[in-house]
Amino acid sequence: MVSRSFPSLLLFLPLVLAATDSGLLTPTVVLPSSNVPVSSAAASPNSSVSTVSISVPGTGTTVISSTSASSVPVPSSVSASPSSIDISATPSTQPVMSTVPISSYTFSPFPTPSQPSVPGVYPATDPQKPPPVNSPFVPDFSPAWAAANAKARAKIAGFTLDEKVSVATGVGWEGGRCVGNIPSIEPIAGREWPGLCLEDAPLGVRFADYITSFPTGVNTAATFNRRLIRLRGLLMGKEHVGKGVNVALGPMMNMGRVAGGGRNWEGFGADPFLAGESAYETILGMQEGGVQACAKHLVNNEQEHKRTQSTSDVDDRTQHEIYAHPFLRSVMAGVTSMMCSYNFINGTYACENDKVMNDIVKREYGFQGYIMSDWQATHSTISAVTGLDMTMPGDITFHSGTTYFGANLTTYVQNGTIPEGRIDDMATRILAGWYLLHQDVPSFPPVNFDAFRPDNEDTNEHIDVQDDHYKLVREIGAASTVLLKNVRGALPLKKPRSIVLIGSDAGPGKIGPNQFGDQGGNDGILAIGWGSGTTNFTYLVSPLEAIQRRARKDRTSVSWFLDDFNLERAGNIAIRKSAALVFINSDSGEEYITVDGNEGDRKNLTAWHGGDMLVEAVAAQNNNTIVVVHSVGPLIVEPWIDHPNVTAVLWAGAPGQEAGNSITDVLYGVWNPSGRLPYTIAKQPSDYPAQLVLGGGPQDVLTIPYTEGLEIDYRHFDAKNITPRFEFGFGLSYTTFKYSKLRISKISSPDCTQADLEKAWEAGKASPIGQGSSTALWLHRPAFRVTFNVKNTGSVFGGDIPQLYLNMPPSSGEPPSILKGFTNVEILPGEKKPVTITLSRYDLSIWDAGAQGWRRPSGAIGVTVGTSSRDARLKGRIP
Ligand SMILES: *[C@@H]1O[C@H](CO)[C@@H](O)[C@H](O)[C@H]1NC(C)=O
Ligand SMILES: *[C@@H]1O[C@H](CO)[C@@H](O)[C@H](O)[C@H]1NC(C)=O
Ligand SMILES: *[C@@H]1O[C@H](CO)[C@@H](O)[C@H](O)[C@H]1NC(C)=O
Ligand SMILES: *[C@@H]1O[C@H](CO)[C@@H](O)[C@H](O)[C@H]1NC(C)=O
Ligand SMILES: *[C@@H]1O[C@H](CO)[C@@H](O)[C@H](O)[C@H]1NC(C)=O
Ligand SMILES: *[C@@H]1O[C@H](CO)[C@@H](O)[C@H](O)[C@H]1NC(C)=O
Ligand SMILES: *[C@@H]1O[C@H](CO)[C@@H](O)[C@H](O)[C@H]1NC(C)=O
Ligand SMILES: *[C@@H]1O[C@H](CO)[C@@H](O)[C@H](O)[C@H]1NC(C)=O
Repeated sequence: MVSRSFPSLLLFLPLVLAATDSGLLTPTVVLPSSNVPVSSAAASPNSSVSTVSISVPGTGTTVISSTSASSVPVPSSVSASPSSIDISATPSTQPVMSTVPISSYTFSPFPTPSQPSVPGVYPATDPQKPPPVNSPFVPDFSPAWAAANAKARAKIAGFTLDEKVSVATGVGWEGGRCVGNIPSIEPIAGREWPGLCLEDAPLGVRFADYITSFPTGVNTAATFNRRLIRLRGLLMGKEHVGKGVNVALGPMMNMGRVAGGGRNWEGFGADPFLAGESAYETILGMQEGGVQACAKHLVNNEQEHKRTQSTSDVDDRTQHEIYAHPFLRSVMAGVTSMMCSYNFINGTYACENDKVMNDIVKREYGFQGYIMSDWQATHSTISAVTGLDMTMPGDITFHSGTTYFGANLTTYVQNGTIPEGRIDDMATRILAGWYLLHQDVPSFPPVNFDAFRPDNEDTNEHIDVQDDHYKLVREIGAASTVLLKNVRGALPLKKPRSIVLIGSDAGPGKIGPNQFGDQGGNDGILAIGWGSGTTNFTYLVSPLEAIQRRARKDRTSVSWFLDDFNLERAGNIAIRKSAALVFINSDSGEEYITVDGNEGDRKNLTAWHGGDMLVEAVAAQNNNTIVVVHSVGPLIVEPWIDHPNVTAVLWAGAPGQEAGNSITDVLYGVWNPSGRLPYTIAKQPSDYPAQLVLGGGPQDVLTIPYTEGLEIDYRHFDAKNITPRFEFGFGLSYTTFKYSKLRISKISSPDCTQADLEKAWEAGKASPIGQGSSTALWLHRPAFRVTFNVKNTGSVFGGDIPQLYLNMPPSSGEPPSILKGFTNVEILPGEKKPVTITLSRYDLSIWDAGAQGWRRPSGAIGVTVGTSSRDARLKGRIP
């Protein structure tokens, strides 16, 4: 008997309440009191940050390195050309504690980037009226931002310095009804302002009742379906607004760089384009629903272990093309806020990172909104000048009663360290987000729940915001399920005489769906991971419940055995059943909860509770064994994937509250599988390009070198010629599709105001860098049209996900194949449909770190259209 150990609920309940998007109280980081002058934040675009201080704990020694990027402590192995791949995962630590010294810094607010509005291509857009899904329009939010900015400036003109500072300072942990709270401004002389409620989570309203638990981010991405991604955003936005939330803390868009990364399920998979499109559609949806979205975590927070004491060292090109890209798409979706992350970037705290916050996001992307800290991720007052606009939850550590902003920020302004113009800029950005989303209308609901006091009847009005959102949850759950194997016509089920459901993942949790605080535990169906990215379930449909109800129609006899460890009985009960359905899972979450030795990140890539042995025990007795996997990320499936009695495998991910209904729809063919893998499933863990970096003492700062560069996930398998078990983008259907007639043409521009920039780009020149330069119209409007036909050559109706990959010329230094387009098409048997995918100049560009611009690589750019990253059906090239 294999033993299971879960931490008891009582043990970690205090932690649960002491945690939002955050961990435990982290070791206090000493702030060296140095007085090294900072030249200017408008440093050269290459420089990472003004100054880095290295303090050696215990010795009191502080080493200060100077301002140039070259002297920032970065391992020499980090380079733009990813030639040396180190996956040995030997922890390299450095006792780096860095901060930006106080200086005579002059601040000038970034101007509003002005984009020419071009009706029909680049329409002026209000966040509550986004362009429809799949429209060729690039929305232009700058007129809306300009109007919101003007209102915000007029409003803060009447604020005192203290009031402006208070707009940027959270009230402290548990100091209000939401996980983050900005205090109101008193109704004196027209200054009245209600403050802000900030609330987790990226899949629904955390700590509230009468809400929907939507599918996870990674499942949403696995649909490759923009309509569904947008709609989930919209319905989540509506639920948050219904509860009185101003800012919903999502979507989360860190990359699935490491297969075992604990929060990968909150994000959108392991490809930047997929993550970028998912972020874009989610934000358009959420903000259409009226809630301010928060793009997080800026940036490079790809593992949980020592997330507050690790430095992600990432070269500029990789940063631009992979990790920052979803944030660029967020800006293009009009996102009002971002959240800087816990980790260091190149040895500088993310929330003090001038290069990332000021230079890339506010300048290059032209971001008009505000950047808040992750919970307790602020480390200094001066971080205000490196781009931090709001500190959350406000206190330095939970319940400390102190803050880096508040009175400290006021003093810094009064003694001339920080210019008041910067405070105006911070307050303007924050209020502009509120005006941009029309949250100033009197009908915007007041907060009507209490995250920390769910039993207080005075502060909980129990407003039901669920509407009929369960329908979408069910649909996305089915649409995100990936069919990986299906032989001998195992699926869909055809009126089987008898079935048996085996494994704890088929059934409900032992003591209900909320038995583990913040979902930190797993003894039944896995529907979401754990941590601050969760909600309480209002209900949770298990496969057992849903399949039984459906099986009744066919008069099928249903048995079950939910014990994962009694292999003999599991095998016995499977004998002579028409089909044996084995349910296995794998869970992960946020660092502040450890489950069965998994400290957020997964300690292995095998199924939990001995799932592999369970599959093998059943397959030994039943020649129609169907495996259903609920998992937060990839698993190694080698022990049983080729077993002749394993006839079908469904990869169901973490699909939310309708988990049982969703898988039933797929098993019975109500939904013809169309989900595609948002990451690669390898044959062995060491095949992946990057591993978790483990180890490190309490005072150490771990170095996480992103040495694989551009070669994350499938890009690495392709570049290194490693055969995966199932590649990124893979997924079968109950029907088959045939592709034909590829055509690629140039789209002529109805707008000639930026013709010179387009010509320069065509000639191979890097785009100029400036305010909003990376989100400019000419770079992002559709420039090439790719068309082809898809025919349903099978016998049932089905949806296909055609994918477009670019094959960049060798001169580009790109991996062999990179995703740059996808769409969904639903086709009747025998029918053929035309499909169009457009590409922008940005899509066809690489980041030139030297020139600091987007550039078309020299040489021919190949285009492949196919059904996965390795199944090319049509080939062409960019004219
Ligand atoms: C980190 O360092 C690399 C290598 O020097 C550089 O290319 C990159 O721009 C730096 N990034 C940041 C955010 O400082
Ligand atoms: C100001 O910040 C310092 C840390 O730099 C902290 O020790 C102090 O308590 C803060 N003051 C207030 C009033 O919060
Ligand atoms: C301004 O005030 C802060 C906080 O008290 C202090 O740390 C800093 O040294 C002061 N700067 C000047 C120039 O007086
Ligand atoms: C959420 O679930 C926890 C148990 O995990 C419970 O203590 C809490 O009261 C629930 N909150 C609401 C709003 O139902
Ligand atoms: C599977 O086993 C059943 C008996 O349980 C048998 O009737 C059937 O022929 C077998 N099918 C295959 C493909 O081996
Ligand atoms: C992997 O981790 C899970 C969860 O902690 C555990 O149940 C399983 O036994 C581990 N697998 C191996 C092979 O150790
Ligand atoms: C497949 O299942 C049948 C029972 O249907 C069993 O007799 C056979 O040994 C199994 N095959 C393997 C390789 O386990
Ligand atoms: C940035 O660095 C590259 C190479 O390291 C150099 O060629 C380029 O001139 C630098 N750009 C700026 C603006 O300093």
